[in-house]
Amino acid sequence: MAMIRLDKFLADMSFGTRTQVKKMIKEKRVSIDGIVVRNAELKVDMNTVVCVDEQEVHYQQYEYYLLYKPMGYLSATEDSCQPTVMELINSVRHDLFPVGRLDKDTTGLLIICNDGQLAHRLMDPDNHVDKRYYFTCEPSLPINAKEILARPIEFADFSSRGGKLEKIDDNSGYLTISEGKYHQVKRMIGFLGCEVTSLKRVSLSFLNLDGLEIGDYRKLTDQEVKRLKDIVNMD
Ligand code: URA
Repeated sequence: MAMIRLDKFLADMSFGTRTQVKKMIKEKRVSIDGIVVRNAELKVDMNTVVCVDEQEVHYQQYEYYLLYKPMGYLSATEDSCQPTVMELINSVRHDLFPVGRLDKDTTGLLIICNDGQLAHRLMDPDNHVDKRYYFTCEPSLPINAKEILARPIEFADFSSRGGKLEKIDDNSGYLTISEGKYHQVKRMIGFLGCEVTSLKRVSLSFLNLDGLEIGDYRKLTDQEVKRLKDIVNMD
């Protein structure tokens, strides 16, 4: 049974800072099972129904967001000089983090959550979660680019599995991979003798950017979270 302090329970559910929540408790506005609670440090089960001003509050342990990442933001939780993707998410939770990384100059779909197990499984190449990227490159793709990228490639520090190239024209296309090694798409396209001039992640498994403007985000629905968990065999 997962236990949590009452003041954290309410602060996580956006009732204010811990200090503000303590004040609410002092003002006798918080009750459990009809009994007013006076101790902010009380440990409660996460499934407890807490009442604030007679309104029921249910604890949500995990939060999941889908962000349309703009250029110029680091996929990190904090950085001393550069903006991070966390600055784009308006949440009181301090335990959120990006699932995997998009380069600073890459745009597109990024999941932000506080569910370590799901994040780990989505990024595990053995779970074969497809990530699809739109890219432009210079100079033109070679004629046999699709065949080359479909096979494993040996780099100095890792070997990539095959990817699926859908060419749009000589200088752009979609590349789908199920791994997430550092600069992987840029390096795979680089292997063809081309340089990526722009890169955008357009989908991750069944999730895409439909309905979002660049820089926007939305919460994943319960059904989407469940579907992701099913895909990576998580109960
Ligand atoms: N591959 C890259 O090279 N960069 C990214 O940001 C994502 C995948």
